[in-house]
Amino acid sequence: MTERQMILATILADGYGTLPGAWRAPHVDPGNYANIDANIRYAQAAERGGFTFLFTPDFPAVRGDVEHATLGNVMDPLMAAAAISQATNNIGFVLTGSTTFQEPFNTARQFKVLDIMSHGRAGWNAVTTSDATVAANYGKPVADRGERYQRAHESVQIVQALWGSWENDAWIKDQQSGRFIDPAKLQPVNLGGQYVASRGPLALPPSEQGQPVIFTSGGPSPHLLEFAGRYASGFIAEVWTIEEGRAQREAVRKAAADAGRDPDDIKYFPGLMTTVARTVREGLDRRIEYSGEVIEARLPHLSSMIGVWLRPEDLDAPLSADKLAAAHVASTDPRAGIALEVARAGWSPRDILAHGVIDYHPTTVGPGAVHADHLQKWFEAGAADGFWIMPDIFEDGIDDFVDEVVPILRERGLYPEKYAGSTLRENLGVPEQYGIGEWIS
Ligand SMILES: Cc1cc2nc3c(=O)[nH]c(=O)nc-3n(C[C@H](O)[C@H](O)[C@H](O)COP(=O)(O)O)c2cc1C
Repeated sequence: MTERQMILATILADGYGTLPGAWRAPHVDPGNYANIDANIRYAQAAERGGFTFLFTPDFPAVRGDVEHATLGNVMDPLMAAAAISQATNNIGFVLTGSTTFQEPFNTARQFKVLDIMSHGRAGWNAVTTSDATVAANYGKPVADRGERYQRAHESVQIVQALWGSWENDAWIKDQQSGRFIDPAKLQPVNLGGQYVASRGPLALPPSEQGQPVIFTSGGPSPHLLEFAGRYASGFIAEVWTIEEGRAQREAVRKAAADAGRDPDDIKYFPGLMTTVARTVREGLDRRIEYSGEVIEARLPHLSSMIGVWLRPEDLDAPLSADKLAAAHVASTDPRAGIALEVARAGWSPRDILAHGVIDYHPTTVGPGAVHADHLQKWFEAGAADGFWIMPDIFEDGIDDFVDEVVPILRERGLYPEKYAGSTLRENLGVPEQYGIGEWIS
């Protein structure tokens, strides 16, 4: 067995899958968006595979082509996780919460309640909101980066201080003496910055892991790196190549070291979109069937990435010898090299696109070993501590991953046989934390 083992997470979303047409698959209930039982089943499937946490992005707004695709978002991350926590035992919940629009007192209270209810399995993905449709729902324009990150620093520190404001041994609850709480150990935090403030204390005891684990996610702007380095124990990333992953992971680790922390205390998670199938062909057919209009719509972008003109009538034949000879990495898009590699393997443009070469994260299609190979390569190259797995259709995609990929990873000694502990912190292997050290303005 290798010493370091990978951590797996999956996505908690609208109940369908990451293919735009997942909701139309005959084995999927099109009403899943409003059916918490579906997300409970998916969480239980992930837990069967030893997944450490469910990650929930959150864009609370109606965005995109909702006439044909779905809403993308879970109805509400905290409410959904609260329900799921009562039907699971080990899997954690890393939920996105905005530092831009939420008041720190609400965030501190809701996440800590989830942490207590789930016996120490909650995490907060603290992001700044830069999406205009979300901002509009709060009646505000998108603030500039400086303001967003100033508010984020203040928010995280207030939240952590509130979490620690009920000291570890404050709760006496001694029926004999009649003393319930030691008031000296439940004291206001009295913190305030330029944008947010709170008096406290927060009337919530420690959870089994003390307090929720802080994550962040995004493109690595210097602002975000500094933020991650100071506070985050996990970083959710969007990168397409091993080189990008390795460089970004190193940048995140360096940011932690610059903040005086051990770089091993921040775990880095690139995404992977998966279609598990008996053969690559079967997997591509499934992806084509449930991709909606996306494949045709992406043809011009594929043309620009590989530098050859592709028309709709070219979609179904492998590239001609002339076109293959002319094809090259013609764009700074980091996915261009992957597209070229798939084209050179002899696939048609439709199949190249079905390989997910223009998707939001790298995509793997085929039998278990295809996915395991990708994960192993990235992990061993130092491009990841773990992965955020996004199955194509949740209804069977999570179980298929657990049945077909997880056993291979275990055989190769890359993935633990069982949960290390019962809390998110233990399963991530990140240190204890309670409250906040000193206030950094
Ligand atoms: C993998 C990934 C996940 C993200 N998840 C969310 C999210 O769930 N909600 C959100 O509002 N922003 C999300 N973001 C956006 C970032 O939080 C941030 O707003 C964006 O990267 C711009 O930040 P910047 O000003 O530092 O560049 C995500 C970004 C990435 C790359």
